[in-house]
Formats: sequence, C-alpha cells, structure tokens
Amino acid sequence: MLGRRDLQKMKAEREKISMVTAYDYPSAKQAQEAGVDMILVGDSLGMVMLGYESTVNVTVEDMIHHGKAVRRGAKDTFTVVDMPFMSYHVTLEDSMKNAKKIFQETSAQAIKLEGATEEIVLLTEKLTAAGIPVVAHLGLTPQSVNVLGGYKVQGKDREAGTKLLNDAKQLDDAGAIAVVLECVPKELAAIVTDSLTIPTIGIGAGVECDGQVLVYHDILQYGVDRLPKFVKPYADYNQAGKAALELYVSEVKSESFPLDEHSFHIKSRDALPSEK
Ligand code: KIV
Ligand code: NA
Repeated sequence: MLGRRDLQKMKAEREKISMVTAYDYPSAKQAQEAGVDMILVGDSLGMVMLGYESTVNVTVEDMIHHGKAVRRGAKDTFTVVDMPFMSYHVTLEDSMKNAKKIFQETSAQAIKLEGATEEIVLLTEKLTAAGIPVVAHLGLTPQSVNVLGGYKVQGKDREAGTKLLNDAKQLDDAGAIAVVLECVPKELAAIVTDSLTIPTIGIGAGVECDGQVLVYHDILQYGVDRLPKFVKPYADYNQAGKAALELYVSEVKSESFPLDEHSFHIKSRDALPSEK
C-alpha cells in the first residue's frame, strides 16, 4: 500500500496521484480494482449517499459506518476519512478524541480536515505527532459553505491567493501529508503546488496539481443530477441503471421474467404436498 514516502516520491517524479471518493463496500472494491492510488471517504457522502442538502449534517458515527464498509472493500488501498462538521471545532481535546476514534475504528491511513485556522494548524501538528496522518483541504471548504456564501471559486484576487498559499505552507510545516485544493484558479494551484513539499490534490484546481480527486457519483453520473463545471463524467449510471430497472419492471408485468432458467425444480411430483 501507498505510504507517505510514496506520495512525496510521486510528487518528486511527477507521477500523478489518482484519488476518488468511495462510501461503501462495492464502490471501494471497484476503486481498488480500477487501480486508484487513494480513496477518500468524503463527508460528501451526506449529500450523495444520504440526500442531505450539505455536508453539515454528517456525524462522526456516519463517517465510521461508511469508513468501515470502504475498508472492507479496499483493504490494500490508502484510505483517507473526512472528519465531519463540528467534530474538530470545539476543544482541542475533543478534536483529538474524535480524530482518534475515526482513525482507529475505520483503520484508515489518514484523516482529512478542512481549513487552516490557528486551531486547525495546531491540531494538524498534534495529530501528526500522535501518529495520525492528516490530509489538509483548502480553497472551497464545503463545511464552511454557509460562511463562504455558496459554492464559489476561491483565491481569485492577490490577497486571497496569498492567504491560500500561506495557509498551505503552514499546513505543510505542521506535518500534513497532502493538501486537497478545491475550486481554485489553476494558475494559483500551480504556484501552491510548486511551493509545497507535499502533494496537492486538486478538485476544480487544474492539471498542474500533483493529483486529482473527484466524487465517485459524479464520475459515474450516479444519483446526481447537475454536475459542477470541474467534473468530467466517464459513464452514465443514471441512464444505464434506470433503463435496466424499467426493463425489469416491464418483464415482471409481462411474465417474461423469471424464465425457467431462473427457477428451481423439484425432483419428483411426489415430493409435493397434495393440492387443496
Ligand atoms: O467530501 C468530499 O468528497 C471531499 C472532496 C470533494 C475533496 O472532501
Ligand atoms: Na469532504
């Protein structure tokens, strides 16, 4: 399995890192079989798996429930589990406790935290020292959507770009093993990528990041209606799945399913109860 060292080697050798979210056993199994470098059990599961409007409803228990299923499906793939909203924002002690719980119960390789406040930088340092690898997440941080005022591109002017670059450097210094850059101009992402010792993993951040991450359901168009600009769909599960289910319904109605080949037979009529 990939480790921290491999991530840095991939950055140094410009071998791109592929990451995809997975939230359950089959998606994790499929991701591993497809050869992805890293899996993210993102708190986006609140929206794509559970139907919430945003990620703020997701709990520590939700992340553990889904994280465990993912680990069962992808035992050999480096897996990062998101810490959910408010699980690392009250006291340092509670944040450490929640991180340890998620890390241990899911047997993940790392956890992910959004933002770069003083508290998050300190927490990154403390978790790293305690042996819990941290992936950082900057730019559009969906847990702060209500503060950011919507899902918008971040770091668009010099001031915001400089802050993002400094935040990323601080998290690098604090020991983060990688940083996700979400919805930032590609030119800024390129500068951040060049300035860090750790890999950047972009989502809506251009091709010059050290790696890319996308949401499983977006890549496959599965259960999602609108796709953000930065997504390229690689399949259409919505269409394929709906067509299959429609055919199933019509074959049940018309008795063209099940056929004899889908049925079991008794060896001898004598083995049947007498009708009455
Ligand atoms: O939860 C998630 O899926 C994420 C990715 C979008 C990076 O954090
Ligand atoms: Na997330």
